[in-house]
Amino acid sequence: MKREGYVYLTPMPVRIWHWINALGIVTLCLTGIQIRFPEYIGVFGRYKNAIILHNAAGIVVTGIYLVWLIYYGLIARTLRKLYIPTFTDVKKGVFRQATYYLYHYFTGAPNPHHSQPHDKFNPMQKVAYLAIMFGLLPLVCASGVLLLNVAPLRDWVLMMGGIRLLVSAHFLIAASFTSFLFVHLYLATLGHTPLAHFKPMWTGWEKVDHESDRA
Ligand code: HEM
Repeated sequence: MKREGYVYLTPMPVRIWHWINALGIVTLCLTGIQIRFPEYIGVFGRYKNAIILHNAAGIVVTGIYLVWLIYYGLIARTLRKLYIPTFTDVKKGVFRQATYYLYHYFTGAPNPHHSQPHDKFNPMQKVAYLAIMFGLLPLVCASGVLLLNVAPLRDWVLMMGGIRLLVSAHFLIAASFTSFLFVHLYLATLGHTPLAHFKPMWTGWEKVDHESDRA
C-alpha cells in the first residue's frame, strides 16, 4: 500500500512490541521505586503488591523482548541494517546529529537525516538503540530473571556473587535505563511538530517533510 506524502516506517509487530514494552517499563520503574524505597512510596498499596506487579511486568518485558528479537532478526531480517551503525555513522554521523540536536535544531535548520524504511534511524539513534536493545535491556531482564529466585537459577545467583551484588547491579542497570527513557522522550518530540514521531509509532506511517525531517 502507498500513501502520497507518507512513508511506511514502523511495521505493526514493532509498534505492538514498543507500546507493550513502554507500558511494562513504566510499570517496572514505578513498582521498582516502591520496592527500593518502601518507606517513602506506597503507590501500589502493600509492599507485596508492588513485588507481584514488578515480577509480572518483568516477565512480560522479557518475553516480548524475545519476540522483538525474533521478528527483526529472523522474520523482517532488518536488524543489522537498521540497528548497527556503520563506520561513517560513528566517525562523522553521530557528531553531525548531535550538533543538529544541540544547535541547528534551534535555528530552524533541517534535520540532516531523512528516514526511509531501510534507514530509519539517524546515527545517534542507531548507537543509542543498539546500546539499549543489546546492552541495558537484556542485562536488566537477565538480572531480573535471576532475582525471581526460582530453583534452577539459584546456583547461578551464587556464582555471580550472591543476591546482594545482583540486587545492586539490577538497580544500577535499571537506573541507567531510566535515564535513557528521559532522553528518548525528549528527542522523540523534536520532529517538525512535537507529535510527528509519535504518530508513526501508532499508525506506522510518517509524513515526509523535507523542510525539517525526522529527529
Ligand atoms: C513512555 C514510554 C515511551 C515513549 C512515549 C516512547 C516513544 C517513542 C517514539 C515516539 C518513537 C519513534 C521515534 C524514534 O524512533 O525515536 C520510539 C521508538 C523507539 N523506542 Fe520508544 N518510547 C517509550 C519507551 C521506550 C522504551 C522503554 C524503550 C526501551 C527499550 C524504547 C525503545 C524504542 C526503540 C528501540 C524505538 C525504535 C523502534 C523501531 O522503529 O524499530 N522506547 N519510541
